[in-house]
Amino acid sequence: MKSFIPLLLAALLHGIACVRLAPSPAAIGPFLTQINNETWIIGNEIWNVTQGRQYGVKLLYNDRDCVGQAVGHYVSYNGAASNLNWTSASVFKQGSYEGSQYIDVKFTALEGDMHWVIMSGLAGAYQYFVNHALPQLGEFRTLWRLDNETFTHGKTDIKDQELPPLSEYIDANKVQDETWLAPDGRGYITKYDFASWVRTQTYYGVYGDSFGSWYMNPGKDYYNGNHLKQELMVHRESATGDVVQLNMIHGTHFQVSAVDDFPDGKMWGPWLWYLNNGSKEDAARRAEQEFAAWPYAWLEDEAYQSRGSVQGQLVLSDGRPATNAAVFLGDNEPNKTALDMGSDYYYTTYADADGYFEFRDVRSATYGLQAWSNGSKIADVTKSYLRNNVVVSKEAPTDLGPLEWATSSRPKIFQVGDFDRTSYGFLYGGSPHQHALVASCPADLLYTVGTSQTADWCFGQTYAGNWTIKFELESAAPTHGSYRSNSTGDATLIVSLAGYSQGASSLIWANGMQIGNLTSASEEGLLNDPSLYRSATAAGEWRYFEFPFDSAAVLRQGANEVTFQLVQNTTWRGFMWDSIVLEW
Ligand SMILES: *[C@@H]1O[C@H](CO)[C@@H](O)[C@H](O)[C@H]1NC(C)=O
Ligand SMILES: *[C@@H]1O[C@H](CO)[C@@H](O)[C@H](O)[C@H]1NC(C)=O
Ligand SMILES: *[C@@H]1O[C@H](CO)[C@@H](O)[C@H](O)[C@H]1NC(C)=O
Ligand SMILES: *[C@@H]1O[C@H](CO)[C@@H](O)[C@H](O)[C@H]1NC(C)=O
Ligand SMILES: *[C@@H]1O[C@H](CO)[C@@H](O)[C@H](O)[C@H]1NC(C)=O
Ligand SMILES: *[C@@H]1O[C@H](CO)[C@@H](O)[C@H](O)[C@H]1NC(C)=O
Ligand SMILES: *[C@@H]1O[C@H](CO)[C@@H](O)[C@H](O)[C@H]1NC(C)=O
Ligand SMILES: *[C@@H]1O[C@H](CO)[C@@H](O)[C@H](O)[C@H]1NC(C)=O
Ligand SMILES: *[C@@H]1O[C@H](CO)[C@@H](O)[C@H](O)[C@H]1NC(C)=O
Ligand SMILES: *[C@@H]1O[C@H](CO)[C@@H](O)[C@H](O)[C@H]1NC(C)=O
Ligand SMILES: *[C@@H]1O[C@H](CO)[C@@H](O)[C@H](O)[C@H]1NC(C)=O
Repeated sequence: MKSFIPLLLAALLHGIACVRLAPSPAAIGPFLTQINNETWIIGNEIWNVTQGRQYGVKLLYNDRDCVGQAVGHYVSYNGAASNLNWTSASVFKQGSYEGSQYIDVKFTALEGDMHWVIMSGLAGAYQYFVNHALPQLGEFRTLWRLDNETFTHGKTDIKDQELPPLSEYIDANKVQDETWLAPDGRGYITKYDFASWVRTQTYYGVYGDSFGSWYMNPGKDYYNGNHLKQELMVHRESATGDVVQLNMIHGTHFQVSAVDDFPDGKMWGPWLWYLNNGSKEDAARRAEQEFAAWPYAWLEDEAYQSRGSVQGQLVLSDGRPATNAAVFLGDNEPNKTALDMGSDYYYTTYADADGYFEFRDVRSATYGLQAWSNGSKIADVTKSYLRNNVVVSKEAPTDLGPLEWATSSRPKIFQVGDFDRTSYGFLYGGSPHQHALVASCPADLLYTVGTSQTADWCFGQTYAGNWTIKFELESAAPTHGSYRSNSTGDATLIVSLAGYSQGASSLIWANGMQIGNLTSASEEGLLNDPSLYRSATAAGEWRYFEFPFDSAAVLRQGANEVTFQLVQNTTWRGFMWDSIVLEW
């Protein structure tokens, strides 16, 4: 198959200035044209992008410049602080796949290479990025800032809505980072409302009457974090009015730190950037195709194609299968939480009713396998599972067989809420994203074990006040189970937080004696995750605490109580609950 691509390349190689072939007919296949040492045009017979040193400034599709007055396409890290500068572009590979000709165009920057895989006949392109020298970072993204008249709406798996117009972003009404009170008492406007779960996202993007621009990220192993990873996806840029289609391939918007170093060669993607006439049905169909086609056979990359599988069955030490447990394949010998990992590749799944799990299409490497309760039948399980040195290889499937997951054998006095690292079950837990929802929870709350329902406990605590759990004990010592003790620290209050935003501190009491605290901002205090004040309602960064105390000195036969006394409070900051368990 001959094309004019080699001719263009030959022309470039010979230093012949490539002038626009105006008023040439549109191209008939994928192409890269260099205009000068800092301007290139890439595209095919359907679309083309004029790429400058940093920005893809023009996107021509169906006779429309879809960028218009907006900024266009770029790649950046650590907020807007560092946009990558492209120093050269070349055709890295070319070939044909299932009858379509393609070229893989590589733009190089000091930090790494951005690839656009352009196929004949495809409205859009596959994109991927290969690291060479990115610094340690938290945020790394590729994005489109598009014409705000062509694109008016944003869609994720959990939200599909017109983007609020820039005219409603009134300076005087700004209440916090990227959050405004809308005029006429219509609540808050915030980009965080358009965040969604990354790992279950099918396709998302921006659209209008006759244009749609979408991201489809099948695979997802290149993202940081676990099942509960959330990110921003679409929004209006509050400084300019641009419509933003964001591809947060490494992000920190709803977690503590997530600062990672990356090995040379770490690859993000390929994902598909897809253009259409704005039809969601068409985008959904295309996404289905992409998910079925992942991992992409056309990508000639040994590490990418070197994939194996791993399976096993998680059985709790009390004999029950680990029904529906969340299972995670991540860093070996981990020193970060699963949500905070992000240097390499990460896989998530759930066990079935019998505790069986399987990961397919896993890059060959050595992993640490983790599991934790996702609620349902094992919502009482407070311990997590970890097994290191799980080797995945292309050569043969890895079958780990039955895996014993040690659970606590101590008698449980009470549990408030399912143990699943989320606030589901509590009042407002898992509601649609909404700024300041926690302000609807009460300052004081009383929960009586045996008569209160889970939904009587609110998902977050932000006001100064007492949240008290009352419970009855038949005797001041355990009456069942094999555990006997009369030593100090024989009772333990387990507190599992789905998230925590700094600015709130609590003292924890049992029958009027302080047994612990959860303190903001001090040396050993809790680190901030922004989830609670950025519209998250189900999860932020999970935290687990054990507060041991001497049961003989504190507990008594009859009525007892545990109190979370919030003594320092800050607007919309505080605790997002997962579960509270008392055992001895
Ligand atoms: C880019 O697309 C526009 C509109 O579809 C078309 O008129 C133009 O010829 C294309 N440019 C190239 C270099 O193919
Ligand atoms: C690009 O070309 C201009 C004009 O020839 C020259 O001044 C400039 O140094 C070149 N830039 C790079 C990065 O090569
Ligand atoms: C990228 O280019 C901009 C100007 O276009 C310059 O300010 C910036 O320092 C450059 N960054 C790098 C990493 O070259
Ligand atoms: C679109 O952007 C322009 C600035 O380029 C701004 O004036 C206008 O208000 C924006 N439109 C909407 C609907 O926000
Ligand atoms: C958009 O394209 C789809 C086919 O992909 C077609 O069914 C639909 O009618 C088109 N919609 C508009 C508004 O052109
Ligand atoms: C995991 O928990 C979430 C939230 O409760 C639920 O929607 C999902 O169905 C659970 N998954 C499995 C496999 O149990
Ligand atoms: C954490 O683990 C990573 C890789 O697994 C390692 O490079 C790093 O040195 C470890 N950090 C600490 C503080 O142990
Ligand atoms: C702190 O809590 C008190 C008592 O519940 C409440 O009246 C006050 O408004 C709260 N302050 C802030 C900043 O939320
Ligand atoms: C309880 O205390 C008694 C007396 O101090 C001691 O002999 C016994 O070993 C203790 N039992 C346990 C289970 O610690
Ligand atoms: C809150 O609980 C603590 C510990 O039980 C108690 O000392 C304090 O008086 C309570 N505050 C109110 C207002 O009831
Ligand atoms: C909070 O608990 C830590 C130990 O976990 C203790 O060092 C600190 O003094 C306590 N702070 C308060 C205010 O109780």
